Amino acid sequence: MFGGIHPEYLTNVLNGEVMEPYRLHLFVCAQQKPEGVPCCPKSGAFAVLEAIDREVQASGLDNDVQLTTSGCMGLCDEGPIIVVYPEGVWYRKVQPSDAREIVTAHLKDGKPVARLVWSDAIAMKTMSIDHRDKYRAMMAMREKSGMIPDRLDTMLRSYMASRALLTALEIDLFTAIGDGATATVAAARCKISVRGADALMNALVSLDLLTKSSDTFHDSPESTRYFTEGSPNNHRNGLLHTANIWHRWSTLTDAVRCGTAVEIVRESRRDWTNNFIAGMDRNARLRAPLIVKALGASNVRHVLDLGGGSGAYSIALAKANPELKAEILDFPAVAPLTEDYIRNAGVETQVTVRSGDMLKEKYGTGFDLVMLNAICHMFSPAQNEELFRRAFAALAPGGRLMIQDFLLTPDKTGPQFATLFSLNMLVATEAGASYNEAEYKRWLNAAGFAVIERINLPGPSDLIVATR
Ligand SMILES: C[S@@+](CC[C@H](N)C(=O)[O-])C[C@H]1O[C@@H](n2cnc3c(N)ncnc32)[C@H](O)[C@@H]1O
Repeated sequence: MFGGIHPEYLTNVLNGEVMEPYRLHLFVCAQQKPEGVPCCPKSGAFAVLEAIDREVQASGLDNDVQLTTSGCMGLCDEGPIIVVYPEGVWYRKVQPSDAREIVTAHLKDGKPVARLVWSDAIAMKTMSIDHRDKYRAMMAMREKSGMIPDRLDTMLRSYMASRALLTALEIDLFTAIGDGATATVAAARCKISVRGADALMNALVSLDLLTKSSDTFHDSPESTRYFTEGSPNNHRNGLLHTANIWHRWSTLTDAVRCGTAVEIVRESRRDWTNNFIAGMDRNARLRAPLIVKALGASNVRHVLDLGGGSGAYSIALAKANPELKAEILDFPAVAPLTEDYIRNAGVETQVTVRSGDMLKEKYGTGFDLVMLNAICHMFSPAQNEELFRRAFAALAPGGRLMIQDFLLTPDKTGPQFATLFSLNMLVATEAGASYNEAEYKRWLNAAGFAVIERINLPGPSDLIVATR
């Protein structure tokens, strides 16, 4: 051996001969992408990987074939993608049910599965280069805008998934679900609220810990095995210790300050509001150009921005159209902060602030755009319907109500961000939640809107635009 390398291998490589430690090497693309962006894992790459692994073992090819994951190959719309080397055979849209045929026909008998092979090298290269260029442009744009990298964002929010699972263990939800249960049945069995059960169980589906068909939830095989009473591998008892420690961990900042274990010390209300509006502003500034582009600013004259927070959306519209006037309505504690943001942006002649409660205050009339950015998730269905009625009355004929929020799928089990956000509203509001498009449409229709359009945006929130 020479520095850990077999001499024969080294000679072959130095002579330019292809040398593979295994006869074949399969790469399955496993590149995760943000929600809403197509990628191989979302089209089932991990299930394919497992199925091929099972078939490779069953065919006795374990020591002949190496099976690993790979990063993005730039063919995301055609996934799951598999490449077989050294032959250079590319498969696309592979499903777990294709695994046996790929292993027996190709890996064993040397005949690639023609119906799955993608051999249009020019199209593949064009797609891959196009993907690479778009990715580089997006990264350059993100770098320039100062947007926080995905790695940090994921780290910052990872407590949400952890907390959802720990809560499910604390209330012994997986055992209560048994052979299947609706949220109402599970709520009764666990002695919890139906609202809480519904939000938690939908979020657990998005985390692959439950499945849902129609209104009935089932434990995943993993949840059944590790978290239910009666299973020989039930770890719930021991894991409840982790759940107990979690409560202590929420005092970490104070413990770090004091150097010892402490009782929870709450931040002042003023600091809380300041940080909240700064947090909202961080997100709204990045999304404001998308809103200006989606709505257009040139034909907008009179805007009402309900719960405008830092005013980022009104500010962006005002900058896009010097004729435009916007009025922001927000709580008295927030209004002075909003005024600071408006002054700093230099648009105080166009954007003004009114303090009050949007659920009670009179809005006025004649607006051609009413905006509800990240507002509806704070309120109950009945409150939203009432808000939409008041917005309808405030709009001039032909005026638009724009709602930007995290929209759930029809069965409410995704996207993951929106399901976890619903839990965020459960812990933070009296009756708020993430909602789906059908619910918004129902409330808008009841409020008098007939023309309703959904506009999908990059990132976690989308638009619903209703015209009076
Ligand atoms: C989640 S933030 C969204 C802020 C802003 N629209 C954005 O997207 O950046 C919610 C805002 O609504 C305000 N708000 C909540 N309830 C309100 C109410 N009943 N009346 C007026 N403002 C309210 C909050 O003070 C906060 O500024």
